Amino acid sequence: MLKRVVSAAVLSMMFVGVVNAQPGWTIPDPNSLPDDAFGQVVRYGRDLIVKSSSLIGPDAPDPAMRYSGSGLECQSCHLGAGTQRFALPLAGAWGVFPAYIARENGVRTLEERINGCMERSLNGKPLPVDGKEMKAIVTYIRFVSAGEPVGQSLDGRGTPPLPLPDRAADPVRGRAVFTQNCAACHGPDGQGVRLAPEDAKSTGRRYQYPPLWGPDSFNDGAGMNRAITAARFVHANMPFGTTFAAPVLSEADAFDVAAFVVSQPRPHQAGTEADFPDRSRKPVDAGYAPFIGPFPSSQHRFGPWKPIQAWAKANHGAARTAD
Ligand code: HEC
Ligand code: HEC
Repeated sequence: MLKRVVSAAVLSMMFVGVVNAQPGWTIPDPNSLPDDAFGQVVRYGRDLIVKSSSLIGPDAPDPAMRYSGSGLECQSCHLGAGTQRFALPLAGAWGVFPAYIARENGVRTLEERINGCMERSLNGKPLPVDGKEMKAIVTYIRFVSAGEPVGQSLDGRGTPPLPLPDRAADPVRGRAVFTQNCAACHGPDGQGVRLAPEDAKSTGRRYQYPPLWGPDSFNDGAGMNRAITAARFVHANMPFGTTFAAPVLSEADAFDVAAFVVSQPRPHQAGTEADFPDRSRKPVDAGYAPFIGPFPSSQHRFGPWKPIQAWAKANHGAARTAD
């Protein structure tokens, strides 16, 4: 029922490519640009965000263009082609890179950050940094970032913080939350709903509703595979159509369903033991070794996280959040 009601709206958003911006957050529209070289590159960049699976993914006609190894689009997580506040916006990202990135303990350019998502969120290979596709994505991000101050994190970046629960998030309860609130779109088995071949062709997208786990989803080294990151994203943005201003799930439900999602099988990212070389900066909810402090891996994955933060503060002089 829910699925039938929303699917027409969701499909039309996919065709348009960009979900409308929100009050107090004006994003320039790539369609307003003339059909000149700059306008074409900006619109190609937007297409790469919305139609990643067919342009740089497994459905690209040219095998050499299959950089992404998943069926997701950038937009699967960067909602509204990255124009939506607190839905991991790409708008504004232009002004905050190059930046220090804890995962590599070094400064990374916007291109390198994009390739971080290529390798993990899209479970693929990096795009050539000097290639046409990377240039277009960066040009699009620069275009939709117009009006945002350079060097300053904007209001609406990432996802809104959530107070951490005192108990461990509960994947068993989370399964019930999933069945009730998510399965209608993402499928009872979390594998999403694939578009019919003709719709996939016309939209350039593989899924009507993307998979939350399994071979076609993000890998286990992705930011979305951390329970706090996933809970914040889901609380502010899911079920689809929800915005941060009016969350639907309780905070407890968001943490429990996130714990359920991150405990499901997905592709493996090799080499994560080298992540966060400065261990004091490793997020408390990173679910892979080596871990900071004397806590079991299950506590990193599901919490309670406050004792880990307290340990980090006492031992590293700073309590790091999930960021
Ligand atoms: C599975 C979800 C997912 C997909 C798909 C995804 N990303 Fe991301 N992306 C994230 C998350 C989550 C973050 C926030 C940082 C973190 O916690 O890892 C992020 C951060 C970013 C950032 C930095 C934003 C900032 O404010 O610092 C950029 C740029 C970015 N992604 C670009 C892309 C591009 C381009 C694609 C497609 C090629 C893509 N992402 C696909 C989840 C995703
Ligand atoms: C009304 C349909 C709908 C419902 C219900 C829904 N989602 Fe989504 N979800 C979507 C769509 C559509 C996208 C991708 C957005 C896009 O491509 O524009 C998405 C994207 C996601 C993503 C990032 C992409 C991926 O595949 O991992 C996560 C995580 C997610 N949803 C989790 C949830 C959770 C957890 C629930 C239940 C609390 C939920 N969703 C309920 C439609 C829905």
